[in-house]
Amino acid sequence: MGDPQRVGAGALRSVERILRARGMNPQALPELGDFDGRTRLQQTDARIPPRYRDARADHPTVLEWLREVVAQAAPANPGARPQVTTGPSLLMAGVTGAGKTHQAYGALRSLIQAGVAVRWEATTAADLYADLRPHAGNDAERILTRVARVPVLVLDDLGAARTSEWVEEITYRLINQRYNRMLPTLVTTNLAIGELRGALGDRVASRLAEMTERATFEAVDRRRLRPAA
Ligand SMILES: Nc1ncnc2c1ncn2[C@@H]1O[C@H](COP(=O)(O)OP(=O)(O)O)[C@@H](O)[C@H]1O
Ligand SMILES: [Mg+2]
Repeated sequence: MGDPQRVGAGALRSVERILRARGMNPQALPELGDFDGRTRLQQTDARIPPRYRDARADHPTVLEWLREVVAQAAPANPGARPQVTTGPSLLMAGVTGAGKTHQAYGALRSLIQAGVAVRWEATTAADLYADLRPHAGNDAERILTRVARVPVLVLDDLGAARTSEWVEEITYRLINQRYNRMLPTLVTTNLAIGELRGALGDRVASRLAEMTERATFEAVDRRRLRPAA
């Protein structure tokens, strides 16, 4: 992972530097915002798995994505908070444990901290397929429509599930709808870009190639890194 400072400072980073220069703790950033901002971040954190509740995005490509999505956010009505409309997507590719999911949740948290109103969903591809498999009592079309239309979607571990025609078709329908609507999607995958084509077909790979910016990760499994005793 490169040095985030090299790609220029985003708004959040600038604020953090100012806070540090004044001896304040940037972690306390939301506390300094209005009460609504703090409440919103707390509400977001309640939906984030505990492991990633303190995640901070610092990957240069993820920060670049954040800047673009914040720049494109627009209020629905005059005076309303800006909300996520359309924007680029991200494809985060790297080995297991590289920090992809951490960056995805960190990016969500940064969006909220930046004051953007964002409806979001996060799911692993495997969990989504499980939710969509026909079984009594589930309305698969409704679930698919929800994740296809939510303004920001984290689709974690794409290409990791066993592939079948059904998996390929569902993935195509999801990605195609988000591609058409230009909705920001944070995709993580263990596969190399070329392997995604083999796993999910050309229709999905081609759309991802056009709609995503690529964030690559150092081939280090952070879960197996232990600090020196
Ligand atoms: N930038 C980071 N700072 C601190 N811990 C991190 C960072 N990135 C990842 N981790 C931790 O490393 C482990 C693996 O990260 P994770 O995002 O789950 O990897 P991946 O999704 O690539 O398999 C997790 O315990 C996560 O909390
Ligand atoms: Mg992960």
